Amino acid sequence: PAARPLAGMKMLVTSGPTHEPIDPVRYIANRSSGKQGHAIARAAAAAGAAVTLISGPVTLADPPCVTVVHVESARDMLAAVEAALPVDVAVFAAAVADWRVASAGAQKIKKGAAGTPQLDLVENPDILATVARRTSGRPPLVVGFAAETEHVVDNARKKLARKGCDWIVANDVSAESGVMGGDRNTVHVVTRDGVDSWPIQSKEEVAQALVARMAATLKDRG
Ligand code: C5P
Repeated sequence: PAARPLAGMKMLVTSGPTHEPIDPVRYIANRSSGKQGHAIARAAAAAGAAVTLISGPVTLADPPCVTVVHVESARDMLAAVEAALPVDVAVFAAAVADWRVASAGAQKIKKGAAGTPQLDLVENPDILATVARRTSGRPPLVVGFAAETEHVVDNARKKLARKGCDWIVANDVSAESGVMGGDRNTVHVVTRDGVDSWPIQSKEEVAQALVARMAATLKDRG
């Protein structure tokens, strides 16, 4: 059993950016590569979990032995997450766009007489908070991420409380860190019991360590 510590467990993982349409040819996006979320899905599947990976648009291949649902927008991602429930562990590694364009046009916006377009933005649903605050069918372990450029651990503590999740995996994504799009990550695992700051590791190693900790947590809870 030690080799497959998540055997019999169901997990969902969100990964990658979202694309929020402006019109049929343009969108708002961010620099998330999906590498960390995909690595977690892969590591969890290798540990024996039945994994659904809900991925925004990325250039990565689908990980082996994982059910992959491809989505574009935050609203599509939320719908796919709700369809994947119930699960034992939900990991929200996606960099969901905070805002979408209020009324994305059905036709391409043209240059010209109307001047420069004004984009009205509205807030997207918070997928992590929506799942973590469910009164029925809340996954026993809900893990969020926090990409920060300063006050990494402080902000993560606040985020843990605000979102109602069990862990926040916080990482420094300032330009100097090279985390966004890079292959290595320095993370702090923040729970209600405290903070574990891990040394810089590959995103694969971070994924394996997170999966091992998830397995230990679920085992403790019986
Ligand atoms: O608030 P912030 O975006 O920094 O929170 C990051 C965490 O929340 C990540 O786990 C991310 O996947 C999740 N999130 C989400 N839906 C959103 C925004 C963030 O699931 N609309």
